[in-house]
Amino acid sequence: MGLRAGDRALDVGCGPGAALAAFAARLGTENVAGVDPSEPFVEMARSRVPGADVRVAAAEAVPFDDDSFDVVVSQLVLNFMTDTPAGVAEMCRTARRTSASCVWDYAGETEMLRVFWDAALEIDPDAPDEGRVMRWCSPAELEELWKRAGLREVEVGELVVRAEYDDFDDYWAPFRAGIAPSGAYCASLPAARQEALRQACFRRLGRPGGAFELTARAWFAVGQLAR
Ligand SMILES: C[S@@+](CC[C@H](N)C(=O)[O-])C[C@H]1O[C@@H](n2cnc3c(N)ncnc32)[C@H](O)[C@@H]1O
Repeated sequence: MGLRAGDRALDVGCGPGAALAAFAARLGTENVAGVDPSEPFVEMARSRVPGADVRVAAAEAVPFDDDSFDVVVSQLVLNFMTDTPAGVAEMCRTARRTSASCVWDYAGETEMLRVFWDAALEIDPDAPDEGRVMRWCSPAELEELWKRAGLREVEVGELVVRAEYDDFDDYWAPFRAGIAPSGAYCASLPAARQEALRQACFRRLGRPGGAFELTARAWFAVGQLAR
């Protein structure tokens, strides 16, 4: 994103504030702000980064003036927006220099979710696989979105991370708890089908007896404002 000392940064869809905290460590709390439509997430972000300007709002109507920030970013959010081009237009309106986003590669190398949805499709061919239903999650779609928003010097690429799990239960816990679209689907299943899904995931992961790691890939787009 080309952050520079003294920059002001806005995190759109900041959730509980992981990226916000990273921005604050680089730029100072007084130079970072976040918005998210979820009040509990906004509360968590405020307590994680005390002093940051975190507001309850959606990407489609960001409550900041034009050119308020040097850099405006959204992390793992584009596919959840109600009107993604409008959300990106708001990111560009509030940014003076740079607009950047990343999204999970739901259809490919995000192993945690791929294992889950491939197992779900095994027992239910109509399962709402995020690799099929999520938009704005391919490099081509991101590039088009960024160029149509009028951004220049557009770069698109991959960010790859490794996630560590203590054991299979550590992997399974968020699904069982109903977190995210995958968890909501899992929680909607009757007990016997949920158990069949759990066993299919366990098998697809190679029946891990202890700790293991999975890879997750996000696609990113970054572009510069023409002003
Ligand atoms: C996968 S989480 C990512 C959170 C955070 N950016 C992170 O990386 O940890 C998706 C976030 O998008 C937020 N969200 C959903 N719809 C949104 C919208 N229309 N505008 C902005 N954020 C939205 C959710 O509340 C949630 O915090």
